[in-house]
Amino acid sequence: SFEMEIASTGRVIPVRADQTALAALHEAGLDIPMSCEQGICGTCLTGVKAGKPDHRDQYLTPEEREACDQFLPCCSRASSPRLVLDL
Ligand code: FES
Repeated sequence: SFEMEIASTGRVIPVRADQTALAALHEAGLDIPMSCEQGICGTCLTGVKAGKPDHRDQYLTPEEREACDQFLPCCSRASSPRLVLDL
């Protein structure tokens, strides 16, 4: 598990091992758009300001993965304890 921080508010949202990052955001009342929930469509793309995403999607290019400044919360997670999201 890991946690996400909402950059605009400082709010910290934990992500349990049994839920997706997107589910945790929705549970916290954040209205992130979604469609495929499989890391294919790119609808849930969210900016990352700090931390290291663990990319598990099939949408981002290798260069975009490497940049670590966006991730797809419907399937991807974090390899650092916290991700600061550009929300
Ligand atoms: Fe399609 Fe996340 S909802 S990539």
